[in-house]
Amino acid sequence: MDIELRGVTKRFGEVVANADVNLTIRAGEVLGLLGENGAGKSTLMNVLSGLYRPDEGEILIDGEPARFEGPGDAIRAGIGMVHQHFMLVPVFTVAENVVLGVEPTGRADFLDLETARRQVHDIKEKYGLEVDPDARIENLPVGVQQRVEIIKVLFRSADVLILDEPTAVLTPQEVEEFFGIVRALRDAGKALVFITHKLNEIREIADRISVIRAGRIVGEGDPKRLDRKELAEMMVGRPVSFDVVKAPYAPGRTLLDVQDLTILRDNDEIAVDHLSLSVRSGEIVGIAGVQGNGQSALIEALTGLRRAASGQILFEDQDITHASVRARHRMGIAHIPEDRQRVGIIKNFTVAENMVLDTYYDERFSSGPQINWKTVNARAAAFAEDFDVRTPSVFESAGHLSGGNQQKLVVARELSREITLVVAGQPTRGLDVGSIEYIHKRLVEARDTGDGVLIISSELDEIMALSDRILVMFKGRIVAEFDATQGAVDKGAVGLAMAGAAA
Ligand SMILES: Nc1ncnc2c1ncn2[C@@H]1O[C@H](COP(=O)(O)OP(=O)(O)OP(=O)(O)O)[C@@H](O)[C@H]1O
Ligand SMILES: [Mg+2]
Repeated sequence: MDIELRGVTKRFGEVVANADVNLTIRAGEVLGLLGENGAGKSTLMNVLSGLYRPDEGEILIDGEPARFEGPGDAIRAGIGMVHQHFMLVPVFTVAENVVLGVEPTGRADFLDLETARRQVHDIKEKYGLEVDPDARIENLPVGVQQRVEIIKVLFRSADVLILDEPTAVLTPQEVEEFFGIVRALRDAGKALVFITHKLNEIREIADRISVIRAGRIVGEGDPKRLDRKELAEMMVGRPVSFDVVKAPYAPGRTLLDVQDLTILRDNDEIAVDHLSLSVRSGEIVGIAGVQGNGQSALIEALTGLRRAASGQILFEDQDITHASVRARHRMGIAHIPEDRQRVGIIKNFTVAENMVLDTYYDERFSSGPQINWKTVNARAAAFAEDFDVRTPSVFESAGHLSGGNQQKLVVARELSREITLVVAGQPTRGLDVGSIEYIHKRLVEARDTGDGVLIISSELDEIMALSDRILVMFKGRIVAEFDATQGAVDKGAVGLAMAGAAA
């Protein structure tokens, strides 16, 4: 099935998210869609998947104009989308989520769950998508939730698959497996649109690349011919540096001291197992590890979102093991959460409101019960400018910002207040190369001015580029430590430790 978008324009009030876009998507081909945060990629794909009606232009399927009144029409036409932000129901099981919204077919009045579980199992086997059909979504790590989203689309036997940053939450190993699936689908004649900010990935998997900037297609290219730097420049319109420059390593006093910490998951399994670590002033400690080895629980415990089962957390020599989220926040711990949609922002609050979340009791912003909105709005506008959060104004709902700009909003808020320790989970997930360059600069700046930084990331390159010390987490424990202050660390060795090889 071939698709053609012709002259598609989509506006949100004053914002022109897509401007006169022409794009062809062909059967048996992977089209890579590249563009900065807020360029209009998701919007364009939401138009194609029937979620949004274009203001102008049309969609042709095999040359015939199609009209989608909603996602149901697009799905019936064979177009399926895996969304950038999961659209799963947290309290439902995997199987329940997969069948959700599928209409009754054939003789049965309803699609019974037993059949669904079997079909999920078949898809899972066929494509190697490991997931338990009976698991509840809320108990699954994000990486596994993404797999469920993929199964969901495959379950609806789509001919055109739109994958909006599907690898943002996958481990390098999962990405390779996932690429296997993508290639199999392509070879089976499906048309695929693949959105990612990872330039090496797009070069590896795409047959063709289209670049979108400020809503317009600004170029097309052959992924085999363009290198990372050329693609980056095409995207952001200026040269991008991939290197991180840091001041010499000069650590000070210990800020964070974690002693023998054990943390349980919701199902009482051990997530973090007698773990100890410390972070000093003026250093970046990076925790490398394949997702699902307890990193999320560790961050939650450090920031007060999850109880410690045993052990201690000291911050500036004070015991904060049982301190509240707000208490830790006020003590100067910044938190960049890995799941920005769940804990980072409140979607139907404005950008300005989100900028002062949890700071509103600060006397600069409020005098007594009154919040000084003038000050709040002015500060928010300055932060947004400072961190290049692309929004029409600070009065826009945070949920209307593009994914990457929501992330920048959280980072701006957390790094713009008085802090001494930054705890960051996947701080650059979903960001474009220009924004990553910027966030890295800010994290290094925090370190260079004496803050402690703890970064947990499944991007090994990110850990390698930023860290003074690298800790590897595996099955809830620190299994290896690498000193990155004495020259480059052997990436292969870190990778081996991540895979659980005895250090
Ligand atoms: N529902 C909406 N209401 C108002 N504005 C919106 C809405 N959805 C998107 N926008 C705006 O449209 C523009 C394009 O956003 P879009 O989400 O398509 O970007 P993107 O290329 O997918 O970015 P990212 O890489 O960050 O995901 C942005 O300026 C965004 O703020
Ligand atoms: Mg997007």
